[in-house]
Amino acid sequence: MSSLSSNSLLRDLEDQLPSNYEKEREDLPLKEIPGGYGLPFFGAIKDRWDFYYNQGQDGFFQARMTQYNSTVFRANGPPGPFMAKNPKVIVLLDAASFPILFDMTKVEKKNVFDGTYMPSTGFTGGYRVLSFLDPSEPKHKALKGYFLSVLSSKHDNFIPLLRKSLTELFHTLNSELSSKKEVQFNPISDTYSFEYVFNLFCGKTPKDTILGSKANTTVDTWLVPQVAPLITIGVSKFLQLAEDLLIHTFPIPPFLVKSKYDKIYQAFSTSATKVLDRAKEFALDKEEACHNLIFLACFNTYGGMKVLFPNLFKWIGRAGPSLHAQLAHEIRNIVKQEGGVTFAAIEKMVLTKSVVYEVLRIEPPVPFQYGHAKEDLVIQSHDASFKVKKGEMMFGYQPFATKDPKVFENPKKFVACRFMGKGEENLKYVFWSNGRESEDPTVDNKQCPGKDLVVLMARVLLVEFFLKYDTFTCVDEPFLLGTMVTFTSLTKVSKFHQLKSME
Ligand code: HEM
Repeated sequence: MSSLSSNSLLRDLEDQLPSNYEKEREDLPLKEIPGGYGLPFFGAIKDRWDFYYNQGQDGFFQARMTQYNSTVFRANGPPGPFMAKNPKVIVLLDAASFPILFDMTKVEKKNVFDGTYMPSTGFTGGYRVLSFLDPSEPKHKALKGYFLSVLSSKHDNFIPLLRKSLTELFHTLNSELSSKKEVQFNPISDTYSFEYVFNLFCGKTPKDTILGSKANTTVDTWLVPQVAPLITIGVSKFLQLAEDLLIHTFPIPPFLVKSKYDKIYQAFSTSATKVLDRAKEFALDKEEACHNLIFLACFNTYGGMKVLFPNLFKWIGRAGPSLHAQLAHEIRNIVKQEGGVTFAAIEKMVLTKSVVYEVLRIEPPVPFQYGHAKEDLVIQSHDASFKVKKGEMMFGYQPFATKDPKVFENPKKFVACRFMGKGEENLKYVFWSNGRESEDPTVDNKQCPGKDLVVLMARVLLVEFFLKYDTFTCVDEPFLLGTMVTFTSLTKVSKFHQLKSME
């Protein structure tokens, strides 16, 4: 057989394989996983201090990757004692080894949503909610099937409801900026993001419930203790020990926020009646469905938006006015051609879509993913194979895996058009949803069921913004699990453009 025909046969065969299939390479040397855990207890405390204070998140991984000259190594994952029973992990930092975490035949995802520790089920009415279940547990199938069906029933509400909340968001931002030199975007974004989420699932504004006008602050009070072990507030050196003892060492007990959670439960159980009535089709009882809905709406969706929306403005703000002009041009032209902001119109916005994927690649909103080996396995980086023992925990740090220089050119650079044209092929290396962007969530995997909604929300945010504004300036700084964005100027769409887009 000529080499040409054997190559094309190989390509044909590869085309028939599932797209998440990674060929196991036999040419790679089998190596011991480098790194280690240090002395019991003290090793984990040292790694924790390196992670939060001495080296910082990226610095922690970068230093070890350089020291061991490997993208796979052993270390203690944060937060460590006494929060986690066992902080020992195998860190994965490249695009070749990371996807083992998506393979449900090889890894178990039970109780690993937050990593090496699991917050008390006291935060969720005594239930282990969907995010903590492994697909091998029957409840996972029932709950995920239920939510996938709830989401598809809401399809027609996604765009109009979001546009309504975004109109108010940008109106508030603009009017605050007219009287102040600078305005923090996050608190305004949080208010209207929650307004949207509540409206989507409950069919009314949270203001008309027991949650009142400060609904999202009540939700924040419930959210923060669950993620506190992963946060540093950025305190001065003198206060680091106090912060470490307070939030990284012992879990914050749920009774402290029980009254807030009771309010949230009351608001959802009395307002989301239509959504909750559907639970029985999936053999779920209403109470369990309601606690799950709260987690999905308030933690997964609202919590995700708290990080994603500021991230979008951070990167687009940094890119500057020429990208703003290109986005405005694409968005306004297509909306005009298509006669409105529709799914079909958004699908045609190739630059807008690429920008959203690039933000999700360069700064994935949920940076950590975990899984326990279900059996003895061999994992592969680009350069070597490594044996992992049954029960060992793998910890993927996604911001490095999606900046893998062997996959992406100039990986640390924000390239707005990266996923346009042929670049779309590299979407299989975009992992923000705990799966490849080229694949879909199912009841049998742990990929985010909000994947399409999240991408849509980000696109609609840009569409709504650039229909109203020409450009903006902002500054950004790290803040809790994401970024604080502060707007310093906002330029409304010029009268000339307004007239043109109405022609
Ligand atoms: C920016 C927004 C979001 C981000 C970054 C995000 C990210 C993720 C990630 C990384 C996971 C997997 C975690 C793991 O097991 O390791 C996940 C799971 C999940 N997400 Fe999202 N998500 C977002 C929004 C949403 C939305 C809008 C929904 C639903 C409306 C949602 C519902 C869920 C649920 C229920 C799971 C658990 C899936 C399962 O058990 O199979 N998320 N999400």
